[in-house]
Amino acid sequence: MSVASAPAGYTPAHISEQILAVRGAVEGERKQVSVLFCDIVASSALAAELGPEEFHLVIDRFFRVALAEVHRYEGTVNQFLGDGFMALFGAPIAHEDHARRAVLSAVGIAARAEVKIRIGINSGLVVVGTIGDDLRVDYTAFGDTTVLAARLQAAAAPGAVLVSQRTAALVRGYFELAEVAPVQVKERTVYPLRVTGLGARTARLDPGAELSPFTGRDGELAELTRLLEVAVGGEGQVVGLAGDPGLGKSRLVLEFRRLAEPRAAVLEGRCVSYGAGIAYLPLFELVRNACGIAADDPADLVGTKIELRIKALELDVSLAHYLRHAFGVMASDAGLAGLDPQAIRAGTFEALRRVLVAEAGPRPLVVLIEDLHWIDQTSEDFLADFIDELPLVPIMLLVTYRPGYSPPWIGKSFTSQLALRPLPAAASELIVTSILDRGDPAEAAVIAERGEGNPFFLEELARATRDNVADTEGDSVPETVQQVLAARIDRLTADQKAALQVASVLGREFALDLAEEVWDGDVSLEARLQELKGLEFLRERHGTAERTFVFRHALTREVAYDSLLQTRRRELHGRAGAALDHSQANRFEQCELLAYHYSHSADPARAIPYLTAAGDRAKDRYANEEAITFYRRAIELIEELDSGRWAELYGAICESLGTVLRQLSQFDGAVDAYRKGVNAVGDPPHRARLRALWCESEEGAHRYPEALAQCDLAEQELGPASDPPELLWLSSWLAVQHARMGVLYWLNDTQTYARLVDQVRPYVEAHGSANQRASFLIDMTSFLLRRDRYHVTDETLEVARAANAAAQEAEPSPFWWAVFELGFVLLWHEDLDEATTVLRETLAEAERRGDVTTRSRALTYLMVAGRKRGDVEAVRKAIGPVIESARHASLPEYEAIAIANRAWVAWRSGEEEKAAADAQAALRLWEGLPVRYIFDWMALWPLVAIALASQHIEQAAEYTRKMLLPPQQLLRQPARTLAEDAVHAWEAGQSTETGELLRRAVRAAGDLGYL
Ligand SMILES: Nc1ncnc2c1ncn2[C@@H]1O[C@H](COP(=O)(O)OP(=O)(O)OP(=O)(O)O)[C@@H](O)[C@H]1O
Ligand SMILES: [Mg+2]
Repeated sequence: MSVASAPAGYTPAHISEQILAVRGAVEGERKQVSVLFCDIVASSALAAELGPEEFHLVIDRFFRVALAEVHRYEGTVNQFLGDGFMALFGAPIAHEDHARRAVLSAVGIAARAEVKIRIGINSGLVVVGTIGDDLRVDYTAFGDTTVLAARLQAAAAPGAVLVSQRTAALVRGYFELAEVAPVQVKERTVYPLRVTGLGARTARLDPGAELSPFTGRDGELAELTRLLEVAVGGEGQVVGLAGDPGLGKSRLVLEFRRLAEPRAAVLEGRCVSYGAGIAYLPLFELVRNACGIAADDPADLVGTKIELRIKALELDVSLAHYLRHAFGVMASDAGLAGLDPQAIRAGTFEALRRVLVAEAGPRPLVVLIEDLHWIDQTSEDFLADFIDELPLVPIMLLVTYRPGYSPPWIGKSFTSQLALRPLPAAASELIVTSILDRGDPAEAAVIAERGEGNPFFLEELARATRDNVADTEGDSVPETVQQVLAARIDRLTADQKAALQVASVLGREFALDLAEEVWDGDVSLEARLQELKGLEFLRERHGTAERTFVFRHALTREVAYDSLLQTRRRELHGRAGAALDHSQANRFEQCELLAYHYSHSADPARAIPYLTAAGDRAKDRYANEEAITFYRRAIELIEELDSGRWAELYGAICESLGTVLRQLSQFDGAVDAYRKGVNAVGDPPHRARLRALWCESEEGAHRYPEALAQCDLAEQELGPASDPPELLWLSSWLAVQHARMGVLYWLNDTQTYARLVDQVRPYVEAHGSANQRASFLIDMTSFLLRRDRYHVTDETLEVARAANAAAQEAEPSPFWWAVFELGFVLLWHEDLDEATTVLRETLAEAERRGDVTTRSRALTYLMVAGRKRGDVEAVRKAIGPVIESARHASLPEYEAIAIANRAWVAWRSGEEEKAAADAQAALRLWEGLPVRYIFDWMALWPLVAIALASQHIEQAAEYTRKMLLPPQQLLRQPARTLAEDAVHAWEAGQSTETGELLRRAVRAAGDLGYL
């Protein structure tokens, strides 16, 4: 083979220069690429048939043709394999359309090669390794990116180009694809597609496809229309539409075109991403459109069509020669042979100018050229020349380009630039919801926010969500978006790119000082950041004490970050952590940031203290969800590192996590956290305390036997008290007894409860801290409530007040439980106003702390206070929130209270049927609980009244009897005695007396606030 075997020998200079210039910056990067394998069919048979010499010549010509096609689309041949080769598109330098380029080049090879070939193409991730001076690239494929491409090539029929599904998805519309037989790759069956021709689509915006509803560009459209009017009036205009990839330049042009077409003719040309080296490319397209030349017209016909058009425009036919020559349509233009290139160029420019001006003769003309950032030099020179014609002709030259390109003519009086802004939120959401079929506004809003007003990103993010595309490589940015951004980043200089990557590790927003410390390049970082600002990758935030830069797009940051290899990421995170560590006087101010960097560094253990501190900070601020995230991450890290060194801290973190989860009524999660803690901690008092908390969580989940089992285990671990008791022992023992009393309360085991109170009292009185006293007094209050069946005596109220006073002195913060308990006690002591005040205070505090359990309790008993006052409207309003909060806190007993009170509201409103149904529903809910609930009267009184009204004395008596059974709350006098007498009368067979007594009982119930 006569082509040089090292890539440097056959790669065109412009590509190799580009690669070598950024070599340092792309080595070790993750890249999305398309891989092309090409091989000659039956080459040994061909060799035998042709003989060695002839065969050699054929192969040589094949490689020349094939390499030319690869290089035309800026691919690099990476490896020769016998009579074939492998080429990469999108690496080492990213291309946003690598798949399209690969297929274009395959189609080109298949059309031009004189031997039969097979080609296979697949797209996916590779890691670029070192790039040698000879341009040889080492790379590692992720998964089966290359294996599959090679396999498709082997499976292709002679002459065929097969692409994988993944590649097909990236080039849909650009090519015609046909299904072929499935192919086995190891254990997997894949379904490749065969490329059968070019498709109708020529740009990303495919007017033939279904488009999102056009939105949010009224101002721009109006401005374009205004400028068109000026041009139509005879003063030509040049308008540049500038905007990031995907911001909607092409779409705006499309919509404008629809508006403009009745007023003007439109000629369109476009530049292509691989077209910078193809002279006159967009201009030729203009001419083709003007002359009606089709893509597959043979050269002669093209020549003829140009000539005919020139005649029709009444121009000099000699102009056609220049055009034919420029566009490579070699007719017999002997006339030009003698001219020097400069003269030919001048002639061509003149011809183009005259044709365009003539086209504007019959009607005003819009000349549209898209994607000027990819324009070739010759076309750019022509345009610079041409626009000087415009002021006097009715032509509007409308061009689009991305930032980074600035047209040479900017600043003239008849030129203007329209910079597209990101779409507003409402427009963004409209685009997203038009794609998501399920209408979840919250989800749409999240995507809309992430898409940052860029419609292309919005569409792709919404599609990825809709189609539930889980990216196999764990990158969160859809592949299509990633390609666009990666290609943009790869156009930076090596230093700019390195700066951007360092910045990407620091976050969307970062301080210059910190970045300087992390930066390991040998040029000035600040200068690079300024350049990146100029190129609109970054913004600078003003008004902050330290100089701060911000990524204009969070997605750009993500893509820059995703391109870094793990090792490099870890290194940079480690440097960032270390820099923060010694730059900050008060490091814990920055603990979230430190936690973030260290946990992504090579030494994640260093993140543990900061994660813990960040969790504590969040917990203190009642940012419960954040606290959970930090704690869980710390727990995971310690588990990963599997080091006994952290056992105590691990136990403490588990304890904190459990506390937060319990507060949120997530009892199973809390149990899990405490179990982990117990398993890690060795110290018996600490273990016992964790078990006490574990018990409380089981209690919260109504699992009473499991709860008591934890108390028993805890006591075993603690062993007997020493005399005097050791402080740590005592505090854990008290915690265990407190937990146990909580369970006994629910089990309504007042005897055991009483014994325990007596057992604990001397310890508290002799050695107890304010917290322990408060806790004991609360337990006492609960005990008295139970013992007296919620008939609150003055003594009970006094204990509750004492508990509350002690609780206010608790460290580090008051015991809010005591405040609730006081409100609850006041309620049954009939001090309704004070009860309401205290419960409101409890509610406000619970909301501040995100304590869903206490919130639900407070809301519930505020509603009950309303009933006791007979305030139907207040109760009606409270029902919804009580049900919602009870469900949120997994407290079905309160949901039942709400339903029982709904029954009362219905009864008061004369809706007896509804009242009866709700009352029964409430009773069923309570009866389903693991322990018997105590406020059945809330449902039973309306039922008694209804039964009585319809003369169902037996039923009324039965309902009344149920209210009197323990553990039901004792009814207040005189209702209690009347009810008891009525039940006795019924049992004695005295029906009339029963009815009479019950009627009196119902009246009393009304007076007492039961009904
Ligand atoms: N105002 C809009 N309302 C709804 N959809 C839009 C809007 N603008 C753009 N889009 C959609 O967003 C996608 C990207 O738009 P478009 O192709 O016009 O971007 P562009 O700026 O031309 O990007 P590039 O620089 O890559 O050519 C298209 O699918 C388009 O239909
Ligand atoms: Mg476009």
